[in-house]
Amino acid sequence: MVETIQWTDEGVVMIDQTRLPLVKEFVTCRTYEQVADAIRTMVIRGAPAIGVAAAMGVALGVLHASPQTLDSEFETICSTLAATRPTAVNLFWGIDRMKRLYASLRGRPIAEIRDALVREARHVYLEDIAINRAIGAHGAALVPNGKTVLTHCNAGALATAGYGTALGVIRAAVEAGKRIDVFADETRPFLQGARLTVWELQEDGIPVTLITDNMAGHFLRSGRIGCVVVGADRIARNGDVANKIGTYGVAVLAHENEVPFYVAAPVSTLDLTLPSGDRIPIEQRPAREVTEMFGTPVAPAGTSVENPAFDVTPARYIAAIITEKGVARAPYADSLRVLAR
Ligand code: MRU
Repeated sequence: MVETIQWTDEGVVMIDQTRLPLVKEFVTCRTYEQVADAIRTMVIRGAPAIGVAAAMGVALGVLHASPQTLDSEFETICSTLAATRPTAVNLFWGIDRMKRLYASLRGRPIAEIRDALVREARHVYLEDIAINRAIGAHGAALVPNGKTVLTHCNAGALATAGYGTALGVIRAAVEAGKRIDVFADETRPFLQGARLTVWELQEDGIPVTLITDNMAGHFLRSGRIGCVVVGADRIARNGDVANKIGTYGVAVLAHENEVPFYVAAPVSTLDLTLPSGDRIPIEQRPAREVTEMFGTPVAPAGTSVENPAFDVTPARYIAAIITEKGVARAPYADSLRVLAR
């Protein structure tokens, strides 16, 4: 399986997701600022992957920070990484985890602090792969045999340290011997479905068909789709889910056609401080992502554009939330609290 992100002696190495599938190129981030840039520009993207990248970015920053000004530099490192993307809570979870460790090491020799933070970042990476495998194991049973699974965006190995959340469920179902194929929404405007999900599943030999976003309703109505599985960027206390723009429409269409709509995400995606999805901050991306296709304008110059990167799917459309600790069902206020314990 493709290596999304790796800690190496040279720095943090990432596959450049802005260039896939045409070019398979790796970039090496040698400073925390470069890691922040890679997150902002979506060289690396997907909620769990940016959580891992943020943890590695903090470790990288501390590795190069001056021992004399470490405390103030640590604050700057964390705030720079936290300012990259606002919606995926995993980013803040990764940074907070490093902050807690740093606080517990106060007064220790610099070499020990550096060593501990690097070890923690590598641990976050390994843990994420194990978590995704556990999500897959819990979710595989929900996938109907002999049917098509519809997914939106890319919630695969590329969006995580490896294996994937939604695609982890699909991989686990295939590993369990289920005969399934996948429909991937292209996912306008950044095309994570067309560029990343299709590429990743093809690499694995899992049958995949690309559809444009506006075809989802047609196929959900056809009876061919056995279930929808998507990832999540932030899940509020009541089970409302923020995920890639377009997810909400797919969920409503799935509900209308009585197709179960599942969300697969690690517990680190839960934000139980928020009562509902209305409070989830939604990132606005640059207008050119909508007005241009690979640098070529597709709309008149000066066109007014909205480009929210995520939408919120109300909990009532979600049949279950699949986590590494088990499957939560409505009422989510109760089931998510138990899983988060
Ligand atoms: O803007 P992106 O590509 O970072 O958005 C990613 C998504 O919305 C994914 O579906 C979500 O992070 C789940 S990833 C396992």
